[in-house]
Amino acid sequence: MKHPVTIIAAGRHKARAEALAARLNYPLACSLPDEPGFFLEYAHERLQLRQTGSPAPGPVYVDFCTGKSAHRRRQGEGRRAPLARAVGMKPGMAPPRILDATAGLGRDAFVLATLGCEVLMVEQSPLVHALLEDGLRRAAGEPGLEQIIARMSLILGNAVELLESMQPLPRPDCIYLDPMYPHKGKTALAKKEMRTLQQLLGADRQGAELLTAARRKAGRRVAVKRPARADFLGQRKPDFQIRSPKTRYDIYLPSSASAIQRNTSITDG
Ligand SMILES: C[S@@+](CC[C@H](N)C(=O)[O-])C[C@H]1O[C@@H](n2cnc3c(N)ncnc32)[C@H](O)[C@@H]1O
Repeated sequence: MKHPVTIIAAGRHKARAEALAARLNYPLACSLPDEPGFFLEYAHERLQLRQTGSPAPGPVYVDFCTGKSAHRRRQGEGRRAPLARAVGMKPGMAPPRILDATAGLGRDAFVLATLGCEVLMVEQSPLVHALLEDGLRRAAGEPGLEQIIARMSLILGNAVELLESMQPLPRPDCIYLDPMYPHKGKTALAKKEMRTLQQLLGADRQGAELLTAARRKAGRRVAVKRPARADFLGQRKPDFQIRSPKTRYDIYLPSSASAIQRNTSITDG
């Protein structure tokens, strides 16, 4: 982590905040100071990350109940949407089982779980894991969301290590990767939450290793989310792509399948 994070323990959430500080091994303070910094606090019944200083962006938290994720769910992002096609969802077929190796704030995983996929999420940052765990806990009690949240599970760990130690079976149908892309400045794509996380955590440096490990363990494919004009993850050319105006999904076949398919041109599968 590039900056220290302090946990604010005050009011009726004091004991919870103290327990979190002990778990994450972060320092405690009893109120939000004026000087610039990063803070975790329980407020409005949720865990949120606050950045202070000038200009201070709004808090970062996970919200599957009322935010953008809820909107995407109500709009009914369908099985023909680029994300669904990227993970190999096809009409008339059972939804694929997904391992989301870069869980982040769980937004993509939530969309996939809404479409019926079982999603195992892996997040390496204890701070992001805590935010996501809190969002899942709140959403699990929300009428209409229980079944979706029941399809989502979360583990704290490094996905490269986890994939390397994973038994050959059962393999996830799709391993989904969305490593932090080093956006510069305040581009529209680098949304407020991701800008804050990027500032705090820095760029993801294990993209190429993650792709290699994922291609060894995926049952059917690895889907990598990238900004539309970004370079390939680890400079490795995908087997095929699914494009939308701002986002591109680079699809890689598992290592063994790719050897057979090499030099064959494949379109959206
Ligand atoms: C851009 S965010 C993912 C956003 C996510 N797709 C969403 O919809 O909210 C990338 C996340 O992947 C995590 N990450 C990167 N490399 C990882 C690894 N090797 N193992 C586990 N998590 C990783 C980072 O800590 C960060 O939280």
